Amino acid sequence: MLYSLVFLVGATIITAQAFRFSGFLWFYLLKPSSVKKYLHGIAPYVLVTGATDGIGKAAARELFVRDFNLIIHGRNEEKVKRVIEELKAQGSGDIQYFIADAAKGGHDFSQLLQPFMDLNITLVVNNVGGVHMNGKKMDASSEADLVELVTWNDLFPLLLTRALLPKLRSTSQRGPVLVQFVGSQSAILGPPTLAVYAATKAFLSTLVRGLDNEEHLWGASSNVEFEHLAVGSVSSAGNPLTVTLAAPSAASFGKALVDRLGCGRRHYAPWMVHAIMEWVVGVLPESVVDRFGASAIRNVYEDHQKRI
Ligand SMILES: NC(=O)c1ccc[n+]([C@@H]2O[C@H](COP(=O)([O-])OP(=O)(O)OC[C@H]3O[C@@H](n4cnc5c(N)ncnc54)[C@H](OP(=O)(O)O)[C@@H]3O)[C@@H](O)[C@H]2O)c1
Repeated sequence: MLYSLVFLVGATIITAQAFRFSGFLWFYLLKPSSVKKYLHGIAPYVLVTGATDGIGKAAARELFVRDFNLIIHGRNEEKVKRVIEELKAQGSGDIQYFIADAAKGGHDFSQLLQPFMDLNITLVVNNVGGVHMNGKKMDASSEADLVELVTWNDLFPLLLTRALLPKLRSTSQRGPVLVQFVGSQSAILGPPTLAVYAATKAFLSTLVRGLDNEEHLWGASSNVEFEHLAVGSVSSAGNPLTVTLAAPSAASFGKALVDRLGCGRRHYAPWMVHAIMEWVVGVLPESVVDRFGASAIRNVYEDHQKRI
């Protein structure tokens, strides 16, 4: 009797894990991209924030060559114009832009977005954000620096999305509309010296879940979906790491981001190795994860030092 019970429990666990593993392989290796479902209506546009470098630029490029028109955001008009020229050499769509310092408050978002309100925006990639890797503990940062960090990572994408939502809802009557928020796996690690940054990214994860529920479970349901991307290390202008399997180049990551968007999951890691890392973090004891997070951050600082 006991043997049968152990066998039954063991077989159930193994079957569940095998099922989960095959789902994982399907998702990362075989599942066709859903990006084309956002190519609906006349001249579909994607709005990408922080699109002049790193992940944002790579995602914008990838979407542009897959027939989306672009609205790109940056903070330096000369650089934005240079990037537009670069992109235009690789596709034939329209590219518009707006300028705003995302780390500063006080923007009038309706005015910023006004020029694009007649465009058919079917995708929004809230990518802008980041952290200045200065190795400081929280209380060594000034109050102004902390407010900027929260504005950069949370308030800017929040208020931009707030201003866009009514328009996105009406576009979604014709076909699906997706709003992505680029998160960070630091949110599940809480590494030393990045406590506030990690918390700003955890905010985005909770925001996505709530907004998605608001859109589908409260009042008239719309066809606007929300996604939170769990991003591990990516070698970019802001984080110039040595490229490895665990820290892909921004170009490879941008392609993975576009291949997976609209996959039907609300929270996922676009990069397969990051997904494995997130799974490992979920099964290990918190104290082990904390030590791992602290040592991973130390390695990042050392990698940055070598490059100076
Ligand atoms: N790279 C990583 O390892 C990593 C890991 C986890 C999460 N992420 C997240 O991924 C996103 C992109 O990171 P990334 O590494 O690709 O960054 P990046 O290489 O530094 O590029 C950031 C982009 O945002 C723009 N930007 C930065 N600060 C801005 C501001 N205050 N106002 C307006 N635009 C601003 C930059 O403009 P300029 O070209 O003018 O500088 C650039 O276009 C961020 O949300 C970050 O938190 C990155």
